[in-house]
Amino acid sequence: MSDAKKLYIKTYGCQMNVYDSERMAEALGGQGYVETQSPEEADMILLNTCHIREKAAEKVYSELGRMRGLKEAKPDLKIGVAGCVAQAEGEEIMRRQPLVDLVVGPSSYHRLPEMEEKTRQGQKALVTDFPEEDKFARLKGRPKAQRGPSAFLSVQEGCDKFCAFCVVPYTRGAEYSRPVKAVLDEARDLIERGVREITLLGQNVNAYHGEGPDGAEWGLARLIWELDKLDGLQRIRFTTSHPNDMDAALIEALGSCAKLMPYLHLPVQSGSDRILKRMNRSHTAESYLRLMEEIRAARPDIVLSGDFIVGFPEETEEDFQATLDLVEAVKYGYAYSFKYSTRPGTPAAERAQVEEAVKTERLGRLQDLITRHQREIQDGMVGREMSVLFEKPGRFEGQMVGKSDYLHAVHVKDALVAVGDLRRVRIVESMTNSLAGELI
Ligand code: 5AD
Ligand code: SF4
Repeated sequence: MSDAKKLYIKTYGCQMNVYDSERMAEALGGQGYVETQSPEEADMILLNTCHIREKAAEKVYSELGRMRGLKEAKPDLKIGVAGCVAQAEGEEIMRRQPLVDLVVGPSSYHRLPEMEEKTRQGQKALVTDFPEEDKFARLKGRPKAQRGPSAFLSVQEGCDKFCAFCVVPYTRGAEYSRPVKAVLDEARDLIERGVREITLLGQNVNAYHGEGPDGAEWGLARLIWELDKLDGLQRIRFTTSHPNDMDAALIEALGSCAKLMPYLHLPVQSGSDRILKRMNRSHTAESYLRLMEEIRAARPDIVLSGDFIVGFPEETEEDFQATLDLVEAVKYGYAYSFKYSTRPGTPAAERAQVEEAVKTERLGRLQDLITRHQREIQDGMVGREMSVLFEKPGRFEGQMVGKSDYLHAVHVKDALVAVGDLRRVRIVESMTNSLAGELI
């Protein structure tokens, strides 16, 4: 029996949080923690939280409430809150929930080891600064554990765009790009540990402008071309992008970089220019559609994905209709749509709100349309040949599951392949949430 302390992390929200949770686990690994999947046996519980919509934040408080019993059973248990709720509510969390020992904002994870020590001495620890440094550069003592074939790599964080509905510029702070060298070193390390596909992450990843080894500022396309040179790396993806930062070099890379996958997440939020303006999006429906055409001209088979908000303050039926028209024109392979959620401190919170019932009804109509397109695009894969990166065994004996170039889950029967193999597959059937294929 090892006497290692156990760490349980629960992750909410976006992929950046998934990445951050892994790095926090590694940082606390240096303090003698190993991860557990069971909160009951944990010595420390970390909730890595999301503040993007009201429901996400509320979930955190109810989860904390449910931890009372765990703490009573094990008084030494330390409970921490990380992520965007930690950043936004800071001391309020400790006031509202005295069970909490530690609150750490997303820019301060390199402070976790010293914070953990402080909690061991019976003190509370709270850090929500925005330091001018790469928060992951100082995370040391990472074990060289083998990894799955697909990994996230955070290259950019924060946002300067201030969309009127969004908390990200407040919770993740100003835009920051990690230096190219830091990204490449981390990519090489991931590849050594078995990673074959890297998804570059950032709230505004295509605004990446990291310092290159030559001292110049590098854009995302240049970074991708550099990653393209790494042996062993077979696929590159990036998310999330803003329409205004889709430069010519990046569109060109989507067309010509073989490792860069034909999938692009490019949120538009609304199809109404009036609403886009009130959202402070600084693009129009038409400029977005033109951009989509350019991207499709560069990479005709690309699958597009987007984010939508319905019921933004003052949205009329006519505005909403414009959103449906835009969706009809683009035909997304995937799309994420949300009812507008009032976020205190953001400009839109002060405006005339759309009734909840109207939001619900519009969300239903939008999702019906999106689901229809999603279905058509997925069904359209049948008969085509594409590559699949195999990630894990399937539910049935001999079955293996992976992801296609277009990010569909694909399973193959009696596949003599290993986890991490990239193989050509012919798609033979489209099911509810996945495709069935045969090795070629
Ligand atoms: N209400 C609803 N959806 C929101 N998003 C961001 N802020 C809000 C909000 N206040 C959505 C946007 C964004 C995605 C990550 O979450 O569509 O692209
Ligand atoms: Fe939020 Fe807009 Fe920045 Fe995206 S671009 S993180 S929606 S403020």
